[in-house]
Amino acid sequence: MIRLATPDDELDDLAAQGGIPGVDSDHARELVHAAAEAGDCLVHVAANGDLDGFVVTRARSFFGRDFISLLAVAASHRRSGIGSALLSAAAHRATTDVIFTSTNESNLAMQALLARDSWTYSGTLTGLDEGDPELVFWRRRAPLMS
Ligand SMILES: CC(C)(COP(=O)(O)OP(=O)(O)OC[C@H]1O[C@@H](n2cnc3c(N)ncnc32)[C@H](O)[C@@H]1OP(=O)(O)O)[C@@H](O)C(=O)NCCC(=O)NCCS
Repeated sequence: MIRLATPDDELDDLAAQGGIPGVDSDHARELVHAAAEAGDCLVHVAANGDLDGFVVTRARSFFGRDFISLLAVAASHRRSGIGSALLSAAAHRATTDVIFTSTNESNLAMQALLARDSWTYSGTLTGLDEGDPELVFWRRRAPLMS
């Protein structure tokens, strides 16, 4: 199940183990907490109630378009469709017709996920993580589910 995160959700371990390239554990925890407070974070809840993934969307923060800034799945639960489901849920909730996300050039898992889910390459940003450019992707907002 995917739902909106609440400030009471225990997201520290997940944020810390997410291994998000270019984001250290402390910063990841801060970002996820702030997003949960702001209503910008969706979490994936496993059958046993554990939280095993999250996605953060910053509304209209990238040239006026929604930007998915963080996505992470617990290491032990990867390759079971959770990352794809979280991205899809974020796309359904988008507030702009086109949404963006980005990932480091070194992050082949995220690039494979974006390619499989039909995101379009937009361009490359340099000057962020030295030696590891940021690749930017976009897609259209998914139609609202009834
Ligand atoms: C990137 C990440 C979110 C993917 O989550 P996930 O739940 O494992 O992804 P899914 O199971 O939904 O994968 C869907 C498809 O993406 C592709 N994919 C995902 N991970 C892959 C990998 N490591 N290698 C190759 N392809 C991969 C595959 O096509 C996969 O389909 P398949 O399993 O049927 O082959 C996860 O690896 C992660 O949390 N990484 C650390 C944090 C991070 O890098 N976040 C992104 C930048 S913010």
